[in-house]
Order: sequence, then structure tokens, then C-alpha cells
Amino acid sequence: MGVVVAVDGPAGSGKSSVSREAAVRLGYAFLDTGAAYRALAWAVLRAGLDPESTHDVEAVLDGFALHSADDPAERWVRVGDVDVTEAIRAPEVSAAVSGVARVPAVRSTLNDGFRARLAAASPGVVVEGRDITTVVAPDADVRVLLTARPEVRAARRARELPDQDHGKVAAAIAERDARDSRVVDFLEAAEGVTTLDSSDLDFDGTVEALVALVRRAPDRGLEPVR
Ligand code: CDP
Ligand code: CDP
Repeated sequence: MGVVVAVDGPAGSGKSSVSREAAVRLGYAFLDTGAAYRALAWAVLRAGLDPESTHDVEAVLDGFALHSADDPAERWVRVGDVDVTEAIRAPEVSAAVSGVARVPAVRSTLNDGFRARLAAASPGVVVEGRDITTVVAPDADVRVLLTARPEVRAARRARELPDQDHGKVAAAIAERDARDSRVVDFLEAAEGVTTLDSSDLDFDGTVEALVALVRRAPDRGLEPVR
């Protein structure tokens, strides 16, 4: 296994974009675990099933064939042979994804797939989500909680969705975080996890701060300097 850099945080903290760019600069692979939950939610909706029904979600999970790019310079996600890269960002999918993510069989199946990807990555991988530092890769070489104040996160997301009402975007993020945090705790840093607050950093400054944390980490296999 190569170097594993685990990044968790709430919606709009900058996890996906910052982790992806950090992976480019480090020459590592990139894994967006939220995209997997989104792709499953998309598949449930597309089948005309109910994302709040455990039975329906498990039916789609059985045989769910997810593929996504390893290379951070690429950005595709496929379910079977359907490209869902854009479709999984739709507001209907964002509204359905927490329902899918609360199902235990979903979490354990997706986690197995994530761990296989981490095991195969060389020389390293940046992996981001909600429970990477705590559940998926608690032994990661670098563990970071990326945060930002709620109003900053809502403003970032609203900038990406200019056609939508700012207040509604902010409310949807707050609701999703509240729901998600009942299943996994990503609002407080677990022991040994470094908090990186991006509220007053621009995109580039946040990437640099993350890359610096990776470069400062003790070499794997060596005892940390005390
Ligand atoms: O980018 P954004 O923060 O909006 O969300 P995302 O990272 O794409 O994650 C979408 C959803 O997947 C979250 O709202 C969670 O419901 C779920 N998720 C999760 O439960 N565990 C993860 N490790 C990653 C995402
Ligand atoms: O994955 P997550 O929901 O945590 O956030 P994201 O989708 O990576 O980032 C949301 C938006 O915030 C993107 O447009 C980023 O470019 C932007 N961003 C920013 O403006 N300043 C930062 N320090 C970090 C991210």
C-alpha cells in the first residue's frame, strides 16, 4: 500500500476540489467516496425506487457496478456503462443521498471497494469523504478534517449553483449535514486528526496547506520524531 492521505469534512468545506488538486501536485491517485454514494442514489432514483426504503436501496446495491477515475486529472464516474459524472451532482441526487448512505449494507459494501482501491494505490492516494479518517482508513498516514464556517460553505456552493436560490442552497446543505452527522461524526476531529479550517483561505492556499501536511508527515515505517 502507498501513502494514504485521508480527508473528511462537511459539505462545501472544499474536500473534493482541494483533495483532487493536492493529489495532482503530489502525483497520487484520488478517490472521492461521496461520488460512490451519489452514484448509488442516482441508480435508485433511475430505477424508480425509493431512497428512503432500505429494501429498495439494497435491491439496487446488489449488482451495483461502479467505476471511477483513479487519475485526479480525470473526472469520470460510471454506473455500468452509463456516464453519471454530471448527473450525480443534480439537486435531486443531493437530496436522496443521505437516505442511501444510512443503510448499513451500503456502507460496508462501498467501504470494501474503497479499501481495495487504497490497497492498490501507488505511490499514494488522497481519499475524501465523511468517515475516511475514522472508519475507512483510521491508520492513514495523514488524517485531516477540512472545515469552514457554515456561511462560507453555503456561499461556495451557491457560487457553483447560480440559478438556485442562495437561502435554499444553504438550507439544503445544513439539512444534509445534520442528517449525515447522525450516521458518521465528521463535525469534530477524531483523536490524531488535524483540523484544517479553510474559511479564511482561498482555494490555492488550502491546497498548499494540505500538501504541506503531507510533506511534513513522518516517513511511513519510521518512528515519528519525538
Ligand atoms: O461534496 P459534498 O460535500 O456535497 O458531498 P459528497 O462528498 O459528494 O457526499 C455526498 C453524500 O454521500 C454525503 O452527503 C453523505 O450522505 C454521503 N457520504 C457518506 O456517507 N460517507 C462518505 N465517506 C462520503 C459521502
Ligand atoms: O467536496 P466539498 O463539498 O467539501 O467541497 P468542494 O465541492 O470541493 O468545494 C466547494 C467549492 O468551494 C468549490 O467551488 C471550490 O473551488 C471552492 N473553494 C473555495 O472557494 N475556497 C477554498 N478554500 C476551498 C474551496
